[in-house]
Amino acid sequence: MRASLITAILASTTAAATPLGVQGTGKTLKRDSATGFEWDPEDFKVAAVRYPPYNWAYPDTENTTWANYDLNRTITKAVDLIKEAAAEGVKFVAFPEVYFPGYAHVLSSFGLGNNQLPTDYAQYASQSMEYDSPEWKTLMQAFADTKIYGVVGWSERANDSLYIAQTLVGPLQNGTAGAVHRHRKLRPSGAERNLWSDGDVSSIRTQKLPFGSVSMLSCFENEYADTRFIASSQPANLHVASFPYGRVVSDWNWRLPPYSTFKTVAAAYGIASGGAAVILPAIGASTIFNERAITMNETLTNNLPSMQAMPYITSSYNTTNWTTPEFSLSSQYSWGSAMSILRGIAAVVPAVEGPYFGHVVSTVEQLSSGFVQTPSTECVATEEYDCVEVWPREGGFMA
Ligand SMILES: *[C@@H]1O[C@H](CO)[C@@H](O)[C@H](O)[C@H]1NC(C)=O
Ligand SMILES: *[C@@H]1O[C@H](CO)[C@@H](O)[C@H](O)[C@H]1NC(C)=O
Ligand SMILES: *[C@@H]1O[C@H](CO)[C@@H](O)[C@H](O)[C@H]1NC(C)=O
Ligand SMILES: *[C@@H]1O[C@H](CO)[C@@H](O)[C@H](O)[C@H]1NC(C)=O
Ligand SMILES: *[C@@H]1O[C@H](CO)[C@@H](O)[C@H](O)[C@H]1NC(C)=O
Ligand SMILES: *[C@@H]1O[C@H](CO)[C@@H](O)[C@H](O)[C@H]1NC(C)=O
Ligand SMILES: *[C@@H]1O[C@H](CO)[C@@H](O)[C@H](O)[C@H]1NC(C)=O
Repeated sequence: MRASLITAILASTTAAATPLGVQGTGKTLKRDSATGFEWDPEDFKVAAVRYPPYNWAYPDTENTTWANYDLNRTITKAVDLIKEAAAEGVKFVAFPEVYFPGYAHVLSSFGLGNNQLPTDYAQYASQSMEYDSPEWKTLMQAFADTKIYGVVGWSERANDSLYIAQTLVGPLQNGTAGAVHRHRKLRPSGAERNLWSDGDVSSIRTQKLPFGSVSMLSCFENEYADTRFIASSQPANLHVASFPYGRVVSDWNWRLPPYSTFKTVAAAYGIASGGAAVILPAIGASTIFNERAITMNETLTNNLPSMQAMPYITSSYNTTNWTTPEFSLSSQYSWGSAMSILRGIAAVVPAVEGPYFGHVVSTVEQLSSGFVQTPSTECVATEEYDCVEVWPREGGFMA
């Protein structure tokens, strides 16, 4: 029953693909008649962007200076990168988490007390993008001009709230480009909740594209059991695990886990989901894995000259065998497995719904007028700014 539901979801977005012999190249390209998308199934080139957004505070670790984010300038550079990648044959480009206008990384999981103020958050909100805005259309025009697909990570401003948005985009039937599927991170992690509101678990949906099916999750959604289970239960050929930036350090001494943690999470996702190829875009360090979670291409540095010299990494997949993955009733992501989890759950887990399952929304008005208090940050009010209670405090859920 589940399997047929998923098959139906996938089938609903299937577009007809016709083989197209291209003379002189020695390759047989395919062409999707609905969108005009053309690709070589034996040489499907993908890219993971690592170049930093405009004015992104650097170096990434201990620098807590607030630098004004600039959505337009980040888009201008991204448009160049998309065109450059497409010119060298890239057909799918993946951007890091909230790349537009940049991960607001002055947030600290260990309390406020950095340099950020509600006025800085207001600046961030002003540079967060609205769906279908002129800025969004400028970015989409690059996908229309190049006729390639991609996953865009962005801070979305909607209904006076911010969301961690991850959107699958590409050429549309009418010659434009736009969203094929929109996801918002279910639950921002730790101090991300100073800024961003809760998304929705029902936006985790694998999409069928002409070259294969694509799934995506944002940062630790790739690890947390609920989001991971829901995504992997809709098997895909290609999975985008977007992370904010790769810290190439050996320990977890500040702010974010080391890059090695992200890499392990992304590789494990590919294996546990039944063999999706995984792209892990992050500012600085990025990795592209094959269908067996073996590294195909990788950069392990946050060095700025390196990012300038190589703004994205690329790899090529042989997608000939990328048919829609079969759903297996006996797999780790099956209904039976979900039931098994419930049967096996230990008595230490009280059978009550905690605040985790609430839907928490803060407004730009709140986050720019005071300190939004999250379960994982201590809030110290100042003479100028109060603490704003938005998130439930019981139980100190989810650091
Ligand atoms: C911290 O980042 C800001 C903004 O990008 C930059 O101007 C400053 O030079 C950086 N500080 C250090 C110590 O690198
Ligand atoms: C981007 O540029 C356009 C055109 O100059 C301007 O109208 C818009 O306000 C800018 N967007 C942001 C977020 O500053
Ligand atoms: C928009 O936000 C307001 C204030 O948080 C809320 O009451 C309203 O339900 C929201 N509307 C939608 C469509 O989400
Ligand atoms: C193209 O199609 C999309 C999706 O149906 C639609 O949102 C958009 O308005 C259309 N654009 C034009 C110029 O027709
Ligand atoms: C990694 O990507 C870079 C940038 O596209 C490319 O020059 C290099 O050849 C790739 N390395 C491998 C091993 O594919
Ligand atoms: C791609 O895979 C197909 C199916 O296994 C195979 O026939 C073909 O030779 C492969 N192409 C390349 C370039 O490796
Ligand atoms: C494609 O599938 C065929 C048949 O299962 C297999 O022999 C071949 O090795 C596969 N090719 C690739 C590139 O995985």
